[in-house]
Amino acid sequence: MRYAALFALLTIVSASDPTAVDNVRNKFYAVEKELWLNVTNPEWSLAGLGGDVEVTKAFVAFDEQIQTVPTPPRIPLETWLWAKTMEKLRIIEGYYKNFITFAKRQAQPGAVPAPVREWLDLAQEMTDHKSPLIQAEKKINDLLEYGDIFRGYLQEQNTDLCELQLSQHQLIYDMYNTISLTEIKGYAMMQFSWMLLRIYGKGNYTQEASLTRRRYGERTTKTAAAARSALAMARRDMYRCDPSEHKRGETYEEVTRLLQGYIENEVDMNPDNTCKENCAYYTVAENHGCFKDQFCAKQTKCKGRIIDCNYIDSDMFICQAGRDSHRRYEWIEYENGRTMGQPGVCTRGVTQVESWWRWLFWHCSYCMCLCDEAGPDSHRYFSLWETTSDVKNNKVVTGLRLVKYGRVFHLQISEGVLGERGSITPGSWVPIQKFDISDHGIRDGIDYHTLTYERRAIDLDELDSPLGHILTGVRFRMIGAHLHFEIRSTPFNYTTGRLAPERSQWISNDNTEGAEIPRSRLSLHKPDIPTRSKTPLRVDSKHDQYLEFTHSDFEADAAQSTVPFIDIQPLEPMKGAALLSGAGIIHRGARDSGGFVAAKLFTYDYSRHVRAEQPPNYALGETENIVLPSNNF
Ligand SMILES: *[C@@H]1O[C@H](CO)[C@@H](O)[C@H](O)[C@H]1NC(C)=O
Ligand SMILES: *[C@@H]1O[C@H](CO)[C@@H](O)[C@H](O)[C@H]1NC(C)=O
Ligand SMILES: *[C@@H]1O[C@H](CO)[C@@H](O)[C@H](O)[C@H]1NC(C)=O
Repeated sequence: MRYAALFALLTIVSASDPTAVDNVRNKFYAVEKELWLNVTNPEWSLAGLGGDVEVTKAFVAFDEQIQTVPTPPRIPLETWLWAKTMEKLRIIEGYYKNFITFAKRQAQPGAVPAPVREWLDLAQEMTDHKSPLIQAEKKINDLLEYGDIFRGYLQEQNTDLCELQLSQHQLIYDMYNTISLTEIKGYAMMQFSWMLLRIYGKGNYTQEASLTRRRYGERTTKTAAAARSALAMARRDMYRCDPSEHKRGETYEEVTRLLQGYIENEVDMNPDNTCKENCAYYTVAENHGCFKDQFCAKQTKCKGRIIDCNYIDSDMFICQAGRDSHRRYEWIEYENGRTMGQPGVCTRGVTQVESWWRWLFWHCSYCMCLCDEAGPDSHRYFSLWETTSDVKNNKVVTGLRLVKYGRVFHLQISEGVLGERGSITPGSWVPIQKFDISDHGIRDGIDYHTLTYERRAIDLDELDSPLGHILTGVRFRMIGAHLHFEIRSTPFNYTTGRLAPERSQWISNDNTEGAEIPRSRLSLHKPDIPTRSKTPLRVDSKHDQYLEFTHSDFEADAAQSTVPFIDIQPLEPMKGAALLSGAGIIHRGARDSGGFVAAKLFTYDYSRHVRAEQPPNYALGETENIVLPSNNF
């Protein structure tokens, strides 16, 4: 049993192939070994044209391998530690650029070989322990060892995740790659130098080379371990924060006229035009006419259900909203001083509205109710069509956003082509499959969901793919009365980047209200419209919650808007080049704000691929443990 478990563990470990950068390092070790065997082989140096040119050619060929590794993106970090690291990395990169330019010139067919002096200068400069190259490598080593760059970032970072447009995990992974890739170049130059010095008979140098190799091996193992442990702690989710300015149609959209504050006189809410009841009697009613062309003649009547009426005060001033607004009223001021919305100037002119008595004992009161009217002016529909990447052409999801087209909300994805070891060639946003609910053959409950008083909950779930799977689709589905979010996961071969589309699966958190531990409800406290919030709206939802779309607060907004609003800012880490494994629907909000419903993404967990292997141990005839002139590299 124990052996079986151990075996399973080993299989998982060995199945995770190294990252592109770790892989290129392994490849270099192989080339290096072969070269040293050649360089120290007397027959080889006799047979060849000139060892220097042969070795140079091998390094130029290896540079092509390095170039196939996708360049890590610029790290959006402004810490001292990272700035220092970058400064040193740039020194190494500078050396490498000169080195490879020189090497390429030499490796060209028919090139006039540079004089030996030039080669030697290069090699001696690069192996001199006072050279900026070696100093830079030393400094990076210190920074890694004493600063623990990766974990340090996690501990000191106090910027909100959303400002990065990346997950912490992705950021640490990019840092690791940036450092490792440059260090491979530094190491390659060192080995090149030892080989050259050897070829020109300046000494034996196999021990220097082997020491350089051993120390490099130790350092890379440590760096990889530090990165892995930081990756294990880092968060993989990412989402957007508040934009600098809220713009309808650009950063947010709204569900409109779902449950909207609506003023109606009792007399128009019953078929007999009586005023025998009071406002509270009308929990569900409808409009039955317009008695004597009072205020009812001045406003658009509610053609749906009139719900939850309340008496506030007899007389009031109403500022009606512009005709193309989705609001009915800008604000209301009651005679008793109570206000709803934010009273101020009123472009359409204030309307005075007064209740009246009928036969002294029946008060025909104006009530404050909610109108639930699914008409052409109400945007309350969500597409239930799935949105998937083109897996047949090996495309995966690289971005996600919510969009509104016409009256209907959709999930939109961007897609890119998956390549080897998690690399992605960014593509573009996949056009949404647009429709209107009035289109022929489009069915409620199948093609789209209509929010209503009874069915206005949305599940807030954060979903991730199982090991070895990647995000290839998203959709909304109905579970009971809840609009429910799901992701599609597809297995893939990390090494080759091939998807296995036939084994795709939809993943969801099917927890319902009837379950043993039901979903918890996220309630909104006196929600004003979120664009007016003075505090930043942070994520306040958790996995396995739900919320109900509702009207904005009566006091704050006369219940004219539907909250939460919908955040439509696109989420696309690394401009579509990041590998994603999960997604979710979250809420960003605060007390007294309706907040936003928004999307989030999870970047792929790279931790099991980050692995620096020990360099191969080979003897070139020399005895070990000889004390060498001190040079840490
Ligand atoms: C080593 O020498 C052999 C024989 O000359 C050659 O075929 C091989 O390519 C050399 N290896 C490298 C890495 O250049
Ligand atoms: C991935 O593909 C490579 C090359 O075809 C194969 O050798 C390897 O076994 C595959 N890995 C998995 C986990 O299937
Ligand atoms: C290199 O030096 C060591 C001793 O330091 C010696 O054993 C070995 O033979 C030398 N190698 C060559 C190829 O000369």
